[in-house]
Parts: sequence; C-alpha cells; structure tokens
Amino acid sequence: MLKILAFTDEYIKDAADIFADNYKLLREANPELPIKYEKPDAIVPALKNIIERNPSAVAMEGDRVLGYMTGYAGIKEYKGSALGVYIPEWGHSSLASDNKELIYYELYSYLSKQWVERKNYTHCITFYSKDSTLKELFYNLCFGLLVIDGLMPVQQIKTSEMDEVVIREAESRDFPGLSELDKSINAHLNKSPIFLYKPKAEADIEELKSEFFNDEVKTFIAEKQGKIVSCIRGMLGKGPNVDIVQDKDTLGIDFGYTSADMRGSGIATNVLAKLIEWGLNNGMKRCAVDFESQNREAAAFWLRHFKPICHSVIRKVDDRV
Ligand SMILES: CC(C)(COP(=O)(O)OP(=O)(O)OC[C@H]1O[C@@H](n2cnc3c(N)ncnc32)[C@H](O)[C@@H]1OP(=O)(O)O)[C@@H](O)C(=O)NCCC(=O)NCCS
Repeated sequence: MLKILAFTDEYIKDAADIFADNYKLLREANPELPIKYEKPDAIVPALKNIIERNPSAVAMEGDRVLGYMTGYAGIKEYKGSALGVYIPEWGHSSLASDNKELIYYELYSYLSKQWVERKNYTHCITFYSKDSTLKELFYNLCFGLLVIDGLMPVQQIKTSEMDEVVIREAESRDFPGLSELDKSINAHLNKSPIFLYKPKAEADIEELKSEFFNDEVKTFIAEKQGKIVSCIRGMLGKGPNVDIVQDKDTLGIDFGYTSADMRGSGIATNVLAKLIEWGLNNGMKRCAVDFESQNREAAAFWLRHFKPICHSVIRKVDDRV
C-alpha cells in the first residue's frame, strides 16, 4: 500500500538513485545533456540541503521508496504578492511504474496542504518537457505553462547574408544602444499578454553595464547604419537555466532582442550564429536558453534552434482558502 511520509535523511540515497536513473533515460534521448547528473552523488548535497529546510515527502510501499518531492518554500512575493514554493526538476522523481500519476498526486496533496497552511499560495514545478504523465496531472491540478527551457548542441547554425548589417562583438561604446534594447525588452516582457514583473522600473546603469560587459559574458550585436538593432548575450559555464543543463561546458543565453521594425529577416539568427561560434571556440558543448511560454516571438525564434528540455508550470491557489 502507498504511504506518504516526511522525507528525512535516511531516504536521500534511494531518492538520488531514482533521480539518476530517470536522468539517464532523459540523457539517452538528449545526449547533449551533461553526464554528471547520471551519478546519484551529484544531487545528494542539494537534496540534503533542501529537505533540511523545507516540507518534503517520500512515497513508500513497505520499505521501498517509490518517489519523492521537495521544493523551496516561503519564497517572498513569488510571481505575485503571495508566498510561493518552487520545486526544481531534481526536487521530485519516481520509479517508472503504472502508479506514477498516483504517486505524484499523493505527494503533491500531502505537501500542498503544508504549503498552503504556511500561506504559500503560488506553486511552481519544473519537469522534463516530454513527461506526458506529469503534464496531464499538473494540468488537472490547475497548473499552466510558465517557462520553457531549451537546449541545443553547440554546432554551427545556418545563416544568410544580410545587406548593410554588421554582426560583431559589442564594445563599451555600444552601451547606450544596448541600454535602449534593454529598456525595449523589459517593456515587451512587461506588456500584454506576458505581464512579466520587474521590481525596478529603471535599471541601475553600473549594474546594467556589468551585465553586458564582464569577464564571463559576451554580447554580440547587429548594427545597421550605425544603430544597434539586435543583441544576444551569452556566458560560458553558466546561465539562468534549470540545474540539469548546468555544467562548465554549457553556454547560457540570458538576453535576446531585435528591434520591432527589423524582425523576421534573419538578424537574430545571424547574431546567434556568432555567439554559437564563440561558444564552439571556447569548448562549449551545449547551449541553453529559457523564455516565458507566453512570449510568442521568443518561442517561435528559440524553438527553431533549441528543443524544449524542461517545462515549468505554475498554479495560484485561492488565497481566501
Ligand atoms: C525573438 C527575436 C529576438 C527574434 O529576432 P528576429 O531578428 O526577428 O529573428 P530572425 O529574423 O532571425 O528569425 C525570426 C523569423 O524570421 C524568419 N526569417 C525571415 N528571413 C530569414 C532569413 N533570411 N534568415 C533566417 N531567418 C529568416 C525565420 O524563419 C524566423 O521565423 P520563425 O520565427 O517563424 O521561425 C525577436 O522576435 C524579438 O526581439 N522579440 C521580442 C523580444 C523577445 O521576446 N526576446 C526574447 C526574450 S527570451
């Protein structure tokens, strides 16, 4: 019989084994993923740390761990004014079984009671995008798609010649133009139908400069008649992406924008190609990006080059409950 218990240290090894076995299957289908998460030890410290501080559960049958779930609870103003909880892609897993849907349902029911009792009304979970069981279960549990993480092997992409457009690395003299693109992307993300909230309306100049120009970051731009019309920013060995794509040879992308009047002519594709070439020359094996699923232009563009690897879905529980 299925039983849900608090996730304590004694279950960490079994939980990490289950995660690593499922990750191996994911990597078989996506060989560009880092190999390091195939070793159960890779997530043991993270599991130990998260279960110490947050409500966490295991699903058991007799002495056997069938699955587990845990997440970062008590996140202030999480996607709204309420407290929230985020369950990363390694914060849950289950044995392959016909019972998987039930295992997850019971784990979520057990934990969401504790989260809501602590006024954590916003729940977000990341899972492998091809996992149709979890997709359907969380859809039925009132979750909707928020963010897509995409992945591609670092290899050259096709580009086309463009008249009067120069693609090059950004230099500090380009900062005023980049700052304009930064304003535009924020306005784009803030407006209907995306409504992405940014706590600070105006970026701090020095902070913004260091986002575009620092030792780990490379910013590539397209320039037309002296005006910067497109930009993609990348970084070696890190990025804003889910944990399972992170490694020292992952090229992360955290900014992409083309001026509205210049879109659809292949400009961003050319800028991306330059960034990929830089990644290739610096030993990067995979490239990762994430974007809001409500951002139609971003989804159309990135999914031409990247395949979805993780979906993050979100639910807001009625706070009057
Ligand atoms: C996403 C974004 C950067 C794409 O920029 P872009 O310069 O329009 O991109 P491209 O022109 O290279 O590619 C876009 C389309 O043009 C098409 N295209 C037209 N001519 C082309 C050519 N000669 N070569 C390549 N692609 C061409 C592509 O097929 C592509 O079509 P698709 O989107 O239907 O797949 C841009 O839409 C944008 O800035 N959006 C708003 C900000 C944003 O959402 N940024 C991403 C945040 S995560």
